[in-house]
Amino acid sequence: MTSMKNSIQEFAIQGGPPVFEQIKSISNLVQPDFEKFLGYSTPMFRDEVFSGAGAVQALLEKRLAEFHQVAHCVSLCGGFWGLVLTMKHLALPGRNEVIMPSLTYRRLADIVAWAGLTPRFCEVDPQALCITEATAQACVSDRTALILGVHPIVNCCDAFGLEALSARTGIPLMFDAVESAYETLRGRKVGSFGRAECFSMQSSKLFNAFEGGYVTTNDTVLADSLRSQRNHGLNGRGEFMGHGMNANQSEVHAAMALAALDGVHAQVEQNRARYQRYQHNLQGLSALELVPFDERERHGYKNIVVKLTPEWPISRELTLRLLHKENMLCRAYYSPPLHQKATGYDMVWDDLSLTEALAERYLMLPCGYFVSIQDVDHICNFLADIVRHGQALKTYEVGQ
Ligand SMILES: Cc1ncc(COP(=O)(O)O)c(C=O)c1O
Repeated sequence: MTSMKNSIQEFAIQGGPPVFEQIKSISNLVQPDFEKFLGYSTPMFRDEVFSGAGAVQALLEKRLAEFHQVAHCVSLCGGFWGLVLTMKHLALPGRNEVIMPSLTYRRLADIVAWAGLTPRFCEVDPQALCITEATAQACVSDRTALILGVHPIVNCCDAFGLEALSARTGIPLMFDAVESAYETLRGRKVGSFGRAECFSMQSSKLFNAFEGGYVTTNDTVLADSLRSQRNHGLNGRGEFMGHGMNANQSEVHAAMALAALDGVHAQVEQNRARYQRYQHNLQGLSALELVPFDERERHGYKNIVVKLTPEWPISRELTLRLLHKENMLCRAYYSPPLHQKATGYDMVWDDLSLTEALAERYLMLPCGYFVSIQDVDHICNFLADIVRHGQALKTYEVGQ
């Protein structure tokens, strides 16, 4: 690999020029085709419908239902509220705990709390880094209202196993599938597992709708409930169905999502090229292990996650500090785990020592629309520089 830093003095932490002049982030930030976006926006002006329940939203929901091979898609203003409303509908009455991993998205426990429920954290599989049938089973009790499967950011969790657990126990199962919009599991499209799967269309996701989210389901009662819940509790005829909120998706967001959907296969090819370049470059760097995508399945290849092996010379925290100084906005995967965060609501867990150990070892590397193949080379070369200058860099560890 070509060195980016010939000596420790050249590191940005020492005042040297950063590897990148502009920030390289882990956000996807894909830019859908502008002309397509304008084209999809036209019906808003023709029909004078702007704030949802118009032709653009209807087209998006139809296209997404086809994409995920499910009966219904309900689009909303964000993934957050899609998750909250689905949980409120599915949770077993008289019970309050939601089984979910702690090693996951930073805000997921907040979402459970907004639904008036209590996170019950389970362990994760050390290889797949996600909830499994066995780890969820260990948390089942007469307080369990719901199982929340979360697909990790590389590959999927064993949705078939969780479906078997749900069938055995009668506890409803839903998924946070935000990071798996493009994936398959044993050839079946993500979107149709459990009672529902929830997605985000925020700009860092595979489908950039500026902001937005959607829920896929084969359950007509749930789909009708979500449609009225997102619209102040009113159904399509304006009749009051029950407690709701204003969580609808506007037409202009739906137009952006449609343009993103048209470009998704091309985007995935670019993501795959970046991933393969990381794979190729990191082969020679044994101190880091790239978390591999399972090539038997279909993937969006958006996220790049690496594990720091015992050979890696410095701590994960110092690694992140060095990367940030060089304008690589990498993030820990996932730290702190949710049970270690201060919150104002109740959370329940037993021993999560595996989660705690894993939360120290992984990080996400730059990816997405603004990261070129040459950028990937620079990133990998810089990582090799860290190994080369590891001894000298140790003096920057906090407490040294
Ligand atoms: C795994 C996961 N779940 C849920 C959400 C919430 O989605 P939104 O930002 O659309 O509210 C996000 C957003 O980053 C996420 O990454």
